[in-house]
Amino acid sequence: MELIRRLHLMREISQEARGRGRKIGLVPTMGALHDGHLSLVRRARELCDLVVVSVFVNPAQFGPNEDFDRYPRDLTRDADLCVQEGVDYLFAPSGEEMYPPGYRTWVEVEGLSDVFEGASRPGHFRGVATVVLKLFNIVRPHFSFFGQKDGQQVVIVQRMIRDLNLDVELVVCPTQRDADGLALSSRNAYLDPDERAAATCLYRALERARELIEDQGVRDARQVEAAMRQVIESEPLARLDYLAITDTETLERVDEIDRRVLVALAVWIGETRLIDNMILEPRKRGAHATMEEARP
Ligand code: PAF
Repeated sequence: MELIRRLHLMREISQEARGRGRKIGLVPTMGALHDGHLSLVRRARELCDLVVVSVFVNPAQFGPNEDFDRYPRDLTRDADLCVQEGVDYLFAPSGEEMYPPGYRTWVEVEGLSDVFEGASRPGHFRGVATVVLKLFNIVRPHFSFFGQKDGQQVVIVQRMIRDLNLDVELVVCPTQRDADGLALSSRNAYLDPDERAAATCLYRALERARELIEDQGVRDARQVEAAMRQVIESEPLARLDYLAITDTETLERVDEIDRRVLVALAVWIGETRLIDNMILEPRKRGAHATMEEARP
């Protein structure tokens, strides 16, 4: 594996690989790699001839009072993991090269960027869309791999790809979870043992939504939200930021759950803000949830 720091080198490598007809896969990350990232790398390895992992803690997607300075960084460990996974190139550009003095161009995916995660973190998705487009332009991947864990990010990047006619296919991989359901995230490293235990409330709330929507056929979104809220509120270390049941493409809130929906939430556990989501599908009317129920 080769560590590439300079934009022009990455570009040359990609251009040459494309010229030889090799399929390039990009896994964009901010480093502090965990099994969630590695599952994306493994999928990329299956689908592509050449796998590039980018590590760039993108200042443009952090607000002034957010955790940019303390975000975990360990490029040596990230590089070791990439070697183990058979990554071809680890692309770790500098902030100065990505955003040189005089930088002024931003990508805004209107309507999708200012709700939920975007309402709590103004400017976050402008920073995400901008850096992802820059990475696409530098690495020129055929496929790019994203985790469903960042559900709104996936919707926004997909919209940007369509709207700007980008020649890259998004591959969305399932959220990786610890045994107790907590979604893997670099920010889990901030949690102390009590907070780590409390953090399972996000998954428990989503599981409650899944039971109501998929097993019990509940269609009233407000009823589901109330049940999820109860799960979070019964956890003393947790403070709900938002929860939302939305259309999977437009991110508009739904009242009646009559199609696949994105159920997403953000919760503060002490000083750490965690997000999670599930895509849930309502049970067909008249269908039975289990074989047990189906018996006369
Ligand atoms: O999901 C992330 O880690 C980041 O938002 C991304 C896509 C690497 C852009 O900085």
